[in-house]
Amino acid sequence: MNPTSKEKVVFLPANKTIQITRGTTVLQAVRQAGLSLPVRCDGRAACLMCKVQVEQPQEGQQDGLSDPCEVERRKLGIDGERALRLGCQARIVGPAVIHLPEDRLKQAIRRQMQQQDDDLSDW
Ligand code: FES
Repeated sequence: MNPTSKEKVVFLPANKTIQITRGTTVLQAVRQAGLSLPVRCDGRAACLMCKVQVEQPQEGQQDGLSDPCEVERRKLGIDGERALRLGCQARIVGPAVIHLPEDRLKQAIRRQMQQQDDDLSDW
């Protein structure tokens, strides 16, 4: 297979689709898509803030990411189930659908608005 070939990657919930060179890490792909993932260790598999969820395909199909490396297995406790991955370690090797965590500010605003709605409905 051509190592410079491109793969289609969809990032949710932004619903952004881009073509990514095989072998690119998910973290690099996120940045190329103009999106962001929170990180503190700059890709050294130490902060565990770059966790993403890869959509699991139907049986017999690949999820589009490289097999978890030893560090990733140890950090995440991956044992067979591989939906949760470290964005700085997992590499794009095929078409993939990847769920990114919600931005913390958006998450806080959404929770606050939900709380206000709940408070108003109690009246
Ligand atoms: S960027 Fe810190 S664990 Fe991935």
